[in-house]
Amino acid sequence: MTALTLSTAAAPGLRADALVIGVAKGAKGPVVAPGAEAVDKAYDGGLAGVLETLGASGAEGEVTKLPAPSGFKTPLVVAVGLGDAPAKDSGYDAEALRRAAGAAARALTGCRKAAFALPVADADDAGAIGEGVLLGAYSFTAYKDTAKNGKGAKGGNGKAPLAEAALLGGKPRDKAYKAAIERAVAVCEELNRARDLVNTPPNDLDPAAFAAIAQAAAKEHGIKVQVLDEKALAKGGYGGILGVGSGSASAPRLVKLSYTSSKAKKHLAFVGKGITYDSGGISLKPAGHNETMKCDMSGAAAVFAAVVAAARLGLEVNVTGWLALAENMPSGSAVRPGDVLRMYSGKTVEVLNTDAEGRLVLADALWAASQEKPDAIVDVATLTGAMMLALGSRTFGVMANDDAFRAAVHEAAEESGEAAWPMPLPEHLRKGMESATADIANMGERMGGGLVAGLFLREFVGEGITWAHLDIAGPAFNEGGPFGYTPKGGTGSAVRTLVRLAERTAAGDLG
Ligand code: BES
Ligand code: MN
Ligand code: ZN
Repeated sequence: MTALTLSTAAAPGLRADALVIGVAKGAKGPVVAPGAEAVDKAYDGGLAGVLETLGASGAEGEVTKLPAPSGFKTPLVVAVGLGDAPAKDSGYDAEALRRAAGAAARALTGCRKAAFALPVADADDAGAIGEGVLLGAYSFTAYKDTAKNGKGAKGGNGKAPLAEAALLGGKPRDKAYKAAIERAVAVCEELNRARDLVNTPPNDLDPAAFAAIAQAAAKEHGIKVQVLDEKALAKGGYGGILGVGSGSASAPRLVKLSYTSSKAKKHLAFVGKGITYDSGGISLKPAGHNETMKCDMSGAAAVFAAVVAAARLGLEVNVTGWLALAENMPSGSAVRPGDVLRMYSGKTVEVLNTDAEGRLVLADALWAASQEKPDAIVDVATLTGAMMLALGSRTFGVMANDDAFRAAVHEAAEESGEAAWPMPLPEHLRKGMESATADIANMGERMGGGLVAGLFLREFVGEGITWAHLDIAGPAFNEGGPFGYTPKGGTGSAVRTLVRLAERTAAGDLG
């Protein structure tokens, strides 16, 4: 990952390959953002006009390159768009800074070192810029150019990601600034690892491989880890996870990660859907709907990343992560539409559609998590195509059995720069899941499919336990081009929200 430092150097004197400055969209054309004073001065205060001549408007994500003025030790200036200029007395929004830093970092692929002179009003701004750089510079190259590079350190275009970033305008000796950078590094390192897991092809990441990676990371960071293999799952009666995994040559796993702090007053449980590949099973997905289904373990990847980040940050809260790992494949041993599964909770489920598998593995993990009576449970899942239809590909839905907690999760998302939106759990939709044979069916009405899935999950949350469900089917995997700090492919959706929620909980602000 890119090395991140805070620097007191003045922009002209810093040796780097490029100097990044901000430009915003003003009412009468581009406006140069604070941080770029030295460059503006070298142009006798005419930098905005120069940028306008070069076609810059200040629009979000726009990148304009110009040669540095004489006297600067960097050859290149990169002006990155911040979007609409803020009102007179307010500063730049942290998320605007994060996105701009990300877009600049992407544009700097192939550069070794860059200095970032974006507007920094406080430590949070420095942290946001740091996150934007670390997330924007990410690239997944493990399977590129392996013949030439051995390990594939460079991308297919032969360019390495930005190696070093110096953030100017902050206070390197200030405790709050140092902490913000350390936090950005811990969170983004784990978030980028979640992206790697999502991007890893399913022939190389089956449930056992994922569990082994979680085990190794847990050991490294002093997290207690327990892995239930197929035998242990059978012994324990985990019918949902076993049923979904029964069609695959790779057996399922349930991984429990326990991070504990001696100063903790609260206990959070995070539960992640970890379908390493979702073919749909016997209810097979048609071609055109299965090419990206390696992303169906994004929830488990997010939970894994968040627990490790919480441990690295030493948060004063206990966090248990549950990874429900299985591969959903059709075969002679696969679960059939019409089969009835006896779940870990004891309830029976009639499987009407084997492609509604996420709720089956989550049901067992939610019930397992409930046995410890945590203060709250949050599950994260690429659960339904319906949620993508409802909210698009950049926003995840938040459902909950408690209004205040749903609001707290939504706020945590907003504070961390993730787009989320509250969704209801309408009681009347429960009827559609009534089964003639079993306690409940794994499918209901087609309309409101994301909410139906949420209602199904609610049945497996222990009595009296506060619970929220994040359906990240839209934002987990970016099928379009990169934007801001979001790459193509795995995005690391929900990691920052979960970490923020753990921080809020540690601070006694659970909602
Ligand atoms: N993993 C899918 C949901 C999904 C779709 C995630 C697109 C990411 C992108 C999930 O297991 C699924 O297949 N859901 C079905 C449920 C239906 C059969 C009730 C769906 O949404 O179509
Ligand atoms: Mn499915
Ligand atoms: Zn799925």
